[in-house]
Amino acid sequence: MNEPIVPVNTPLLDGNEKAYLGQCIDTGWISSEGPFVSQFEQQFAARLGRKHGIAVCNGTAALDAAVEALDIGEGDEVIMPAFTIISCAGQIVRSGATPVLVDSDSATWNMDVTQIAERITPRTRAIMVVHTYGLPVDIDPVMNLARQHGLRVIEDAAEAHGQTYKGIPCGSFGDISTFSFYPNKHVTTGEGGMLMVDDDALAETCRSLRNLCFMPNRRFVHERLGWNLRMTNMQAAIGVAQLERLDEFIGRKRVLGARYASALSNINDIQLPLASTAYADNHYWVYGVVLGGSVPFNAAEAMRRLAQLGIGTRPFFCPMHWQPVLQRRGLFAGESYPVAERLYTRGFYIPSGVGLTDGEQGRVCEALMEILR
Ligand SMILES: Cc1ncc(COP(=O)(O)O)c(C=O)c1O
Repeated sequence: MNEPIVPVNTPLLDGNEKAYLGQCIDTGWISSEGPFVSQFEQQFAARLGRKHGIAVCNGTAALDAAVEALDIGEGDEVIMPAFTIISCAGQIVRSGATPVLVDSDSATWNMDVTQIAERITPRTRAIMVVHTYGLPVDIDPVMNLARQHGLRVIEDAAEAHGQTYKGIPCGSFGDISTFSFYPNKHVTTGEGGMLMVDDDALAETCRSLRNLCFMPNRRFVHERLGWNLRMTNMQAAIGVAQLERLDEFIGRKRVLGARYASALSNINDIQLPLASTAYADNHYWVYGVVLGGSVPFNAAEAMRRLAQLGIGTRPFFCPMHWQPVLQRRGLFAGESYPVAERLYTRGFYIPSGVGLTDGEQGRVCEALMEILR
């Protein structure tokens, strides 16, 4: 095998990224004080119809700040999906609150929203939804439950830039919605994140938490513990350039998704992502594959075999109730979430970055057909 490895993700940085970065260097504005930060915040918030965008250093930090800004802590419960990244649980657990899990829908891989109501207790403070792998959560029922029970909604839209639910932008639903701009996202800043908020006071809290909770008139005196979560002007410069191309990137991802769907449709007993649901068309943040029961090996072995053929892959999320760090805290004892467990053991994703070439995609399809013949 002499051909180069097909990387699982390749970002495209050949728009205005270099020019805007050059402006940061030429003007000396490289910290979070530079003008690209507010430009990026305003442009992305405007696209979603949100009042405030608050840029931070990554998507995990955005979730941490969201949980803290909503004063979630000791004794509170937050309902969240079992099948997600640890970033969602981190600050809930650190704050002394309890994450309460819900299994996934086996067709969309998103949180099964029909299971939320039975998990609500008098201690429930919030529901955290996570748009997963390219399709949004069925969010109307979640918003209805939240309204009925007086719960806050944290919407993790880390993977859902430019995606919509019934035509309404993902990232516009939560009391606080969050994004990540890691390089595998539809918009990247290298590392980066953003909170989206409408309420002025809540936005002010998020801004303050991002900046160590410095007090406006008494600098270096603190009434609350924050973090330094600031995004630099250089990251935001890249973000502004990326945002200019978001629709183009989504178009490219959809072409890649459609091509995979037709090329892989003849492989026996694998589940591919749904192209659409009643409320959204997939925008293929990643292109996932789930091995059916008759495939005689699991996802780890499939990924090993694909690596031997020069194909990069990534495993699916390991569910929260199987995380040693959370189990050691006494969480989720005896709990089982069969769909999330199956997705983790049988699922992985294949190259689908915006920079993936047609030739590379052809190699991925051939390799998959070879290992699953
Ligand atoms: C659903 C979800 N939430 C949060 C994050 C964390 O974002 P970051 O890597 O920017 O910290 C990710 C990262 O991929 C994610 O997929």
